[in-house]
Amino acid sequence: MDTPRLHPDTISAVRDRADIVDIVSEHVVLKKQGKDFVGLCPFHDDKSPSFSVSPGKQFYYCFSCGAGGNAFKFLMELGKRSFSDVVLDLAKRYQVPVLTLEPNQRQELQRQLTLREQLYEILAVTTKFYEHALRQTDGAAALQYLTQQRGLVESTIQQFQLGYAPGGWQTLYGYLVEQKRYPVALVEQAGLIVPRNGGSGHYDRFRNRLMIPIHDGRGRVIAFGGRSLSDADKPKYLNSPDTELFDKGQTLFGLDKARAAIAKADRAVVVEGYFDVIALHAAGVTNSVAALGTALNAAQVRQLLRYTESKQVILNFDADAAGVKAAKRAIGEAEAMAYRGDVQLRVLNIPAGKDPDEFLKTHPVEEYVALLDAAPLWLDWQIQQTVAGRDLRQADQFQAASQAIVQLLSEIANADTRTHYVRHCAELFSHGDARLMPLLIENLMVQVRRRRRSPDTAPTRPTLTFTQTSNLEEAEAMLLRLYIHAAEQRAAIVEMLENRDLQFSYSHHRALWRDLQTWEKAAQTEVNLPPLVEWLRDRAAESLTLAQTQHLFYLDEKSQRDVLRGPLIIRAAAACIEKALCEKRYRHFLQLWSESDCTASPEQHTYYQHQICAEKRRIAELEKERQTTFEDLVKLPWVGEETRV
Ligand code: UTP
Ligand code: MN
Repeated sequence: MDTPRLHPDTISAVRDRADIVDIVSEHVVLKKQGKDFVGLCPFHDDKSPSFSVSPGKQFYYCFSCGAGGNAFKFLMELGKRSFSDVVLDLAKRYQVPVLTLEPNQRQELQRQLTLREQLYEILAVTTKFYEHALRQTDGAAALQYLTQQRGLVESTIQQFQLGYAPGGWQTLYGYLVEQKRYPVALVEQAGLIVPRNGGSGHYDRFRNRLMIPIHDGRGRVIAFGGRSLSDADKPKYLNSPDTELFDKGQTLFGLDKARAAIAKADRAVVVEGYFDVIALHAAGVTNSVAALGTALNAAQVRQLLRYTESKQVILNFDADAAGVKAAKRAIGEAEAMAYRGDVQLRVLNIPAGKDPDEFLKTHPVEEYVALLDAAPLWLDWQIQQTVAGRDLRQADQFQAASQAIVQLLSEIANADTRTHYVRHCAELFSHGDARLMPLLIENLMVQVRRRRRSPDTAPTRPTLTFTQTSNLEEAEAMLLRLYIHAAEQRAAIVEMLENRDLQFSYSHHRALWRDLQTWEKAAQTEVNLPPLVEWLRDRAAESLTLAQTQHLFYLDEKSQRDVLRGPLIIRAAAACIEKALCEKRYRHFLQLWSESDCTASPEQHTYYQHQICAEKRRIAELEKERQTTFEDLVKLPWVGEETRV
């Protein structure tokens, strides 16, 4: 290919000059309409003007065929021309000097790069250096460690860009500073070399270590973790210091490779070690990341929540750190977020003191996934831990356990959830003695309320107002209640979910749905199967997850009436659930769009833009649908039989 690589300055100078309205109007008759211009779309057989050009945003979009992009994209699509062809042409027209990226210009460009960009470059070059060293005689032991002891295959080693830092004191220094002429100060700022104590000069931070690059969300190397190759060599892991690019507390190892999978699975798995992430990804559990040996903090959790709609984060902490106190330490700031309802935090404690990497050596990955599926909510897990090993028939142990439980329950911000847990705990404490139950519930309620009120123990936290999600939760609940109590609506519900390819967003709703399908299946063959409601109530006694949805098994006056409005409920729920799905996709594309480079890959950039517009339109439609159905359903007073659609 002899197409010249254009200098970024040339591209941006042309972009600054080229006006989308000028360029498009040479090919399309445009009429002003408000702030924008409209015309007939040149990319499809347009009958009415659906092509709009925005001078403010400098892009075009066709509401009919979905074509869209910036001025460059317009000319590329219209004339089936390459990017550099279009830019060169425009450069001539606007008399912008054309600079190409010749080898001798690279140094010039180098000087213009900002500090961060230079650090990125140094780290990328270093990554290549370590990868190369792993394949040399020097690195043979490290490579063997990876393949033999760690059981990694070549593709995994390459995917994670694993490498080897050679043993000398100035090997990397020699390469970066003496050979490549990177300034010493920058290499030091990248965290790769350390100034000698007292004297002058520098030495390599990482020597004779297995090197694991740490990437930012966009896949750029920002730091390294270096593992020692022998037990004698301490510490086990040496990490880059915090730098201009690397803030340990803000970073999740593996996030760049896990983002898409987190969105797809709608849940994130957080483990403790580098090798846990590597082993999990190699085994196909690609929605996993690691906090770098520190407690999870709010910034890290928020990063994960960008990709999961149902806000599910499963924390797989080391089993040797079992016990509520140790777990609390590992969970860090995520705990408070869980109590506020900002995150659905689950915990997985692999039996027999194993970390995921060790577990996968002796178990098939399906078993790990089954453990993830069964991971209890953080609160449930704590309750289990509090009750486990205590004999609640002994007065002192009963007292201690109930104190601990009251403290736990008083943290829950949402009143309904709190009531549910109070019931559940009263059940645990009553040991199957039905006479005790009402007493215990009342007792617990009073204590919890008292604790919540006392200012020194329970600081008032702002309770989250999740209007959108609570709509969604309510809509899903209505749909499930309808399914349970109105047999004649079941086919319509299944059909709606299948046709629109929808799933329940809340994990406890999904779990209930699975149980409902189990019953349906059994009903086809078993003659003596109890009716659905009875069957559910029985099972809820054994399953904590199912117990969470117990309120749906009963009908009060209002829900009894609701059930009569079946078709309206189905429509409302469909709108709410699909809208949540679109919003998730919208955020996903928005994220990708904001991170994609419109010069380097203009087509991808525009593709994301289309997706964003498409999702936005669908969201607006669904919002309308939601308002006319859902709000009718919850707000309008019951007007009698005629509302039956
Ligand atoms: P672990 O000690 O649990 O080790 O540290 P691991 O990940 O199972 O390591 P392997 O399997 O023996 O190789 C968990 C994480 O804590 C951080 C690292 O991120 C590590 O992956 N850590 C641990 C350090 O930063 N420094 C250390 O010295 C030890
Ligand atoms: Mn390990």
